[in-house]
Amino acid sequence: MSVDSSNFVRAMARVPGPVTIATTADPAGRRWGFTGSSFSSLSLDPPLVLICLDKTASTHEAFSRADRFLINVLAQEQADVALRFARSGVDRFEAGDMVPCEFGLPGLEDAAARVACSMHDVLDGGDHTILVGRAEATYVGEERVPLVYSDRAFARPVTDHMAGAR
Ligand SMILES: Cc1cc2nc3c(=O)[nH]c(=O)nc-3n(C[C@H](O)[C@H](O)[C@H](O)COP(=O)(O)O)c2cc1C
Repeated sequence: MSVDSSNFVRAMARVPGPVTIATTADPAGRRWGFTGSSFSSLSLDPPLVLICLDKTASTHEAFSRADRFLINVLAQEQADVALRFARSGVDRFEAGDMVPCEFGLPGLEDAAARVACSMHDVLDGGDHTILVGRAEATYVGEERVPLVYSDRAFARPVTDHMAGAR
């Protein structure tokens, strides 16, 4: 039995995910980045994370060959950055909000968190490639609330504590 693809997409859209910007630089120094909600932790020992990238994406070659990449976990006010790094055919870095961070890779100073990775493995995942990174450095933006993506909309997490305050 094969699952109906539109139902599969609808069901998976239900799964709340983080909103991240993955960045890297190629050997010529050109910066690359894309919005990704498929970011996840994978292992504690060794410390591994993963993000899945569409094989047809303009950024695919740069990321699948990269030695290092940086995950920027967006904060709730940064949905505009997510939209910009998902847009095709534009200079996603033109706004100037990405500055050299860990490894000198482009990052957002006011991200909710950053995870700087060395490339641990590049795996096949159907029409996507699974980029497995080994965390080499992390940053946590204190008091930054992470942005969430669910049912194709941006949201902010509501904690029990916040819900109780209403
Ligand atoms: C909230 C959001 C999450 C996304 N998550 C992913 C993802 O996890 N993996 C992926 O390959 N593309 C994801 N995309 C799409 C990419 O950001 C980008 O639009 C796509 O790679 C096409 O870009 P291109 O013009 O570089 O080919 C997401 C887009 C949005 C708006």
